[in-house]
Amino acid sequence: LVLPAIFACCSCIHWSSKDQKITNQPAAAGQKRPRNDAGNRVTVVLGAQWGDEGKGKVVDLLATEADIVCRCQGGNNAGHTVVVDGKEYDFHLLPSGIINTKSISLIGNGVVIHLPGLFEEGDKNEKKGLRGWEKRLIVSDRAHIVFDFHQVVDGLQETERQAQEGKSIGTTKKGIGPAYSSKASRIGLRVCDLLGDFSDFSTRFKNLVRHYQSMHPSLTVDTEDQLKKLKDYAERLRPMVRDGVYYMYEALHGPPKRILVEGANAALLDIDFGTYPFVTSSNCTVGGVCTGLGIPPLNIGDVFGVAKAYSTRVGIGAFPTEQLNAAGELLQTRGHEVGVTTGRKRRCGWLDLVIMRYAHMINGFTAIALTKLDILDVLDEIKVGIAYKLNGKRIPHFPANMDILHKVEVEYETFPGWKTDTSTARKWNDLPAKAQNYIRFIENHIGVPIKWVGVGKSRECMIQMF
Ligand code: GDP
Ligand code: IMO
Ligand code: MG
Repeated sequence: LVLPAIFACCSCIHWSSKDQKITNQPAAAGQKRPRNDAGNRVTVVLGAQWGDEGKGKVVDLLATEADIVCRCQGGNNAGHTVVVDGKEYDFHLLPSGIINTKSISLIGNGVVIHLPGLFEEGDKNEKKGLRGWEKRLIVSDRAHIVFDFHQVVDGLQETERQAQEGKSIGTTKKGIGPAYSSKASRIGLRVCDLLGDFSDFSTRFKNLVRHYQSMHPSLTVDTEDQLKKLKDYAERLRPMVRDGVYYMYEALHGPPKRILVEGANAALLDIDFGTYPFVTSSNCTVGGVCTGLGIPPLNIGDVFGVAKAYSTRVGIGAFPTEQLNAAGELLQTRGHEVGVTTGRKRRCGWLDLVIMRYAHMINGFTAIALTKLDILDVLDEIKVGIAYKLNGKRIPHFPANMDILHKVEVEYETFPGWKTDTSTARKWNDLPAKAQNYIRFIENHIGVPIKWVGVGKSRECMIQMF
């Protein structure tokens, strides 16, 4: 096996930061130049497919040792499941690390926040036993706000797309696209605006409503009622709000800290690199970590990609390895492939190594977590997409154009199924040889070591390889 050096040398390290302070350009003897001590590094967890890869579970695993867990992009379109002591939690805006009572959770400037959604989520999880979350949560003052009308507009836009082109995107209708549009149009409102002069905020809010009403005449908004509610939310939010950039700067430059970043959505849903226009509206790849938290690239440490042992997608858009047959149905039912946020059935298909290599080109994964291997346990044979062909010829890149992506022919490698229950496996040697071959093939093909293999929903069901 030809694997990167990390595979051989990091036998037990999850964390990039603790003992590895980065120092560049040390001052030479006798010189009075400032020393650029770049500080701690953050460990990043990102989706490598179309979302729902099991990021929540991987974050939970790492969060047990983390000091700070951050969200840097997306909003409550995300749905991250964590199962602890038999209890299932789903997180949408709150970082999954909020479960860990010893760590701080941070919602960065790159996130768009629907305040009713945030508090409903916290209150719902409180009923399940989550205590003191409001004291452990920090919210960046630069984060943009998703208003109720953004969510209504999301629905109206979907209806319009369907009527005009016969194609909606299949969004989560959480207002994500409209809120990021307001941000990009420079008419959005941020947390710092909500906590500032309320009369100024009210004027800008009314202007924003009028802007959307001019585009969508059927949109009705009870402005006074909305402003009253927002004023109440402002007071509940105020104790959590900080200057996110300064908070991160201090965290990176103080004593060693383990800082984890929880990606939402995934590479193929990224606004720049995903299957546009069937994508979300933020950068779900590694660049979103720097822009969504205000931290330099030098502080990025390990970047862990999370992928299922097969592929799923919620919503509309190209999906070259999709299986509209018995194999796809089996993956859907055995994998309980139903969206956490919308309750929609997820489309299912074989693992696609073309998209994973593409996700690696963009993110530079240092290792991968391969989840849901147990779902494949009953299959006679398992296929893996290894290349795309156009007019009979392999293409080296992932096509940007959706018409082309719809036309590609997938070249598959077929593996015999292991037909053995893997859900009780806890170490590499517990896995059947055929499952080991499957895993080895994937890591060799992508050129990234697989660090964890998931064989069940709970914390214990994660085999750590090195
Ligand atoms: P996320 O959005 O990436 O955090 O993933 P979701 O929570 O939306 O979906 C992943 C689903 O798979 C959740 O229901 C998890 O509990 C479940 N899951 C995660 N890892 C495994 C695994 O290794 N095996 C099985 N059977 N289920 C898993
Ligand atoms: P997590 O973090 C799966 C998909 C939607 C839709 C498209 C655009 O749980 O992996 P949006 O509401 O963002 O404008 O919808 O993106 N989508 C997701 N699919 N998991 C997610 O998040 C997703 N977030 C967005 O289904 O196709
Ligand atoms: Mg999800």
